[in-house]
Amino acid sequence: MTASVANPACPLPDRTVALPARTFEISPAGREEADRLRRLPADELFFRLVRNQESDAVLLTCRRLLDAYLGHDAFPNTVPDPAVGIAEVPSLVEQVRAELAPVVAELAGQPAAVRQLVYRQRAPLALLDGCWLDLVSQPATQPAIIVNRLYAQHYLLRGAGNPARSQEHRRRRALEAAEVTLPPIGAHDFLAKAQARPLTALHACGYLALSRLPANFLPELVGVQFAFRMLGIDDLLLGSEPVLPGEELRSLLAGFGELADRAAQARLVRAVRLVLELEREHLGMLAELARWRSEQSLESRVAEIIARHAPLAGRQHGRISVGGRLLSEIFADPNLDLAGFLGAFRESGQVTRGSDGDSPFSTAIKFGGPMFGIFDAEEAAVFRAWVASVQAGQRPPIEISPNTAGDAAARRWAARLAESEPADVVIRTPAVADDRELFFRLVNIENFPNTLALAAEHARRNLADAEVLFEHGAAGRYTDASYFEYTPQALYRHGERVYWGKLVDPYRPLTEIPDRDEVIFTQSTYALGYLIDGAWLHKLGNTGHCERESDQMLFAIYADEVGHGDLVKNHITLTHRVLHSLGIDLPHIRTEAFTDQADLPDELYGFSLHQLALCLLPDTFYNELLGYNYAIEMFGSGELRLHEIQKLRHHGFDDCYEQAHLTIDNFSAGHTRQAADIIVSYLDGVRRTAGEDVVQQEWRRIWRGYASFALFVEHALLKQLAGSPAPADPQPADTEPFADLLI
Ligand SMILES: [Fe+2]
Ligand SMILES: [Fe+2]
Repeated sequence: MTASVANPACPLPDRTVALPARTFEISPAGREEADRLRRLPADELFFRLVRNQESDAVLLTCRRLLDAYLGHDAFPNTVPDPAVGIAEVPSLVEQVRAELAPVVAELAGQPAAVRQLVYRQRAPLALLDGCWLDLVSQPATQPAIIVNRLYAQHYLLRGAGNPARSQEHRRRRALEAAEVTLPPIGAHDFLAKAQARPLTALHACGYLALSRLPANFLPELVGVQFAFRMLGIDDLLLGSEPVLPGEELRSLLAGFGELADRAAQARLVRAVRLVLELEREHLGMLAELARWRSEQSLESRVAEIIARHAPLAGRQHGRISVGGRLLSEIFADPNLDLAGFLGAFRESGQVTRGSDGDSPFSTAIKFGGPMFGIFDAEEAAVFRAWVASVQAGQRPPIEISPNTAGDAAARRWAARLAESEPADVVIRTPAVADDRELFFRLVNIENFPNTLALAAEHARRNLADAEVLFEHGAAGRYTDASYFEYTPQALYRHGERVYWGKLVDPYRPLTEIPDRDEVIFTQSTYALGYLIDGAWLHKLGNTGHCERESDQMLFAIYADEVGHGDLVKNHITLTHRVLHSLGIDLPHIRTEAFTDQADLPDELYGFSLHQLALCLLPDTFYNELLGYNYAIEMFGSGELRLHEIQKLRHHGFDDCYEQAHLTIDNFSAGHTRQAADIIVSYLDGVRRTAGEDVVQQEWRRIWRGYASFALFVEHALLKQLAGSPAPADPQPADTEPFADLLI
């Protein structure tokens, strides 16, 4: 493929490895919220970050976290070797791996109970591993070579079409084999069940922060991807095979080195150093944890269990008292004196052996006792051992050794986050002059998250407007957005009817081919949409948001749209190829220069703006996106594509984009069928958990999403409706969907 001479701004192949530095615009309310967020305990902060992917407060927090971790003095005690450049990175990582491997081996060789504690603590990082690839492919970064190499790795880590083969699933299975079972990453108790120390939570927040700003931190991301995987701490610890071969990672690094200038290379090296230090720090914490557990006295273990359960005891213990004080009072005391309590407890009648051989406390925690089920098997075993030692007359001094593993480092990171004020953050209420500026901001959303509220408003307006088609949509030329009560059968019937009746069967080869300029013009009316092809799906399978079958299925369609990271099959590459053959050489859509492009008409921005607005708020508009996905995948199948192919071929233009969609989007098994299956799968989940009434409410939102797509392609019908309000039976108009808008 040759690079475009006419347009050096966006030549193919796209050799971009770092975007130009830009400021990060945050709304005043976003800053206030972010100031609150960074004061939260680390586990609470993690939960907010993982669940909220739609607010500028979270984006600012991510920017601050990256500043805290990547700042020059992040590791004050480590003197970086200035001689280390990108060429030395593999040996540097290898060296640190050799240094850390014995530490890992020692941890893996601990007795089962200690090893389980270590696995549990490490699990959040093992399961988040690779989250930084979630958004690496997005409108601002496609179709860069390096982005697609990363995406190909992402696709492999996600199981290459089979989620059960994904790295996360493999690791969960390995953890479960060691009896460490954790809820989904987005669950409120994910970190609690992992008994995550603050340091683990803060490291997790750091990687998650990178996952939210990948376009701005592309060189760092490549560094993290290389160093984290080549160190391979989790595979060493769990004894598993890496999903990505080292050769592939070395080739990624070499590829980056060939494309990157010195500044970008230096950024990568800094991130590599960060990962090496963070992993050294985390392993140090795991070793500290293992030591603490191994040396912990029985009394201290009992105290730890009591401390964990005391806040949940409430008024459960009725009139039972120990040492002359009611248990309900003791456990409600925020300054609970554990050593004092334990001293009194072991002298109380609660642990004295009764005539049946059991103490009242032991009887209480057994099956049939009032405390049965409060403690897990391991906790109950600790209590049994302790009661036996007390009954045997042992009275060792009660020394409680609190678990402080990693706390010093955690305090340092928390302090850095609290002080972080990156110089490139600008607090501003967004003012958007026109559609072109809004498009620029939405493509570069990492830098303009203060625009998200405007995006939400924009999408809501379109969705509300689209409801007019609930009544009159049957007369659409390419769609039928008329409302119907949902059943899976009704949806599939709709698909068959529109696909065959409106899109495929009407096809007759053109007997007259429009002239060259007209063909170019019609293609230009599609181009803005083509340049963000797939974007409506790009945020729908992220870490903490990929738990339903429908999420996995949406991820699979997006993966197809970007060719699984193969540039030859990537739909954005295809778009650029076609445009180039038409003589339309545009700057990249993320650039300021694109705001001034003169090839694509102003009137067509609405369609792309709606799509971007929806997709940037994937939790708010989840249902709407399901309907939109079904509509857009079906659109352009059949007649419309075949005519375009005929026209393009006639004039010797490249028709690869149209060709690719002819097959991939079909209703037999292609994207259109999958889009209908996704809706059925999602609503089936709703039916099973919330009932049929809720299904219809959720369906209505899905159908608004479908209708909102129709709103942008059924201009003739809408004009007809606007001209003569509510005609009983509007007539289908036979015009090209977008060109009609410009007439
Ligand atoms: Fe596509
Ligand atoms: Fe598609």
